[in-house]
Amino acid sequence: MERDAGPHDFGSLDRAWLESKSGNKWRKHAPLLPAWVADMDYRPAPKITAHLQSVLDLGDLGYPARDEKNRTRAVGAFVHHMERRHGWSPDTDRIREWNDVVQAVQAVLHVVTSPGDGVVVHVPAYPPFFSAIEQTGCRMVPVPARIEHGAVSFDHDALDSLLSREPARVMILCNPQNPTGHVFTRAELEHLADIAARHGLIIISDEIHADLVHDGRTHVPMATVPAAAGRTVTVTSASKSFNLAGLRYAVTHCDAEQVEAGWARLPDHLFGATNIMGAEAAWASWTLAGGWLDDVVAHLGRMRDLTLELVAAHLPGVRVHRPGATYLAWLDCRETPIATDPYAAFRAAGVETSEGTGFGPGGEGHVRLNFATSPALLEEIVSRMAGALR
Ligand SMILES: Cc1ncc(COP(=O)(O)O)c(C=O)c1O
Repeated sequence: MERDAGPHDFGSLDRAWLESKSGNKWRKHAPLLPAWVADMDYRPAPKITAHLQSVLDLGDLGYPARDEKNRTRAVGAFVHHMERRHGWSPDTDRIREWNDVVQAVQAVLHVVTSPGDGVVVHVPAYPPFFSAIEQTGCRMVPVPARIEHGAVSFDHDALDSLLSREPARVMILCNPQNPTGHVFTRAELEHLADIAARHGLIIISDEIHADLVHDGRTHVPMATVPAAAGRTVTVTSASKSFNLAGLRYAVTHCDAEQVEAGWARLPDHLFGATNIMGAEAAWASWTLAGGWLDDVVAHLGRMRDLTLELVAAHLPGVRVHRPGATYLAWLDCRETPIATDPYAAFRAAGVETSEGTGFGPGGEGHVRLNFATSPALLEEIVSRMAGALR
């Protein structure tokens, strides 16, 4: 694979620098090579780090400036980013800032569900959705992925009839989907919104991976689907696209009266408050770093293709489909000698992946691989994993 010679060089990474970082990805399972948690190995955009440096140089670490509705300037930047990238004009008055995406998901479940209520989720799914559902005392209503001939699909007609028999209260949609990388089409979203409207579901639409779509695909925000109006809470962040997860900053756009009324009944301080570095980094991401984002997405597309090539060449029996978005590959190891516990086998070979069973039903015999690294490191990761299959 050609080394990335673009203005932002993601193709060569200094291993000593990565190993010296204090974050969880490189620390927690050292000396295993980390292909697990969804952080990228790249430095954030220089324009973002320079902006944060200027905040530090100014000694500007007091409370961030907020408007009369308690919003930082990142909110305006979010609206522009959505307009430019996704053709959606969010209503500024419906936006709130949070410390993270999962906090907001939990806060929606908290105000609209009662113990025992059903929560629809496409599985396999991002693991914190399960704990959010469990900790609210709710019941998961799984929509299983079918992955055939490299394509991911879900049976939404079956969901529709299931909901007629077993009502539910909320649908947590993850679009693009983690871990399959599925990008829901407008037709799929219209069908889901229609189902939600007929069965009275609130939709939580986690769109944190929206910027990271490949092959010229278009991300369709659920909030732009007419049938989703009045029932949708969009939850997102700059943290995945711009590699800023440690800064803890997220936003919601709430077009669901019942949710907003529930939140209004809770004491303000229960929500916490965003910090100045998180808000300024989000502002800088959405205002200054569009070129970096284009470059990283192009690089991730090449890393995705390299992942497929390396898996085909070196991991016999492992099946992988081409994810339409994200930097995550969902590896099906059920037809290999390590089918019962591929995660443990890859660990023993020196690589930390994410264990498939953590992603719920359909996760058995799978692992999730994070390919947001350099070609050289990915080659070493796959070569170690190959050791588990020899
Ligand atoms: C689908 C999805 N939602 C949420 C998150 C985490 O967001 P936060 O750290 O803001 O809770 C991730 C992280 O990988 C994710 O993949």
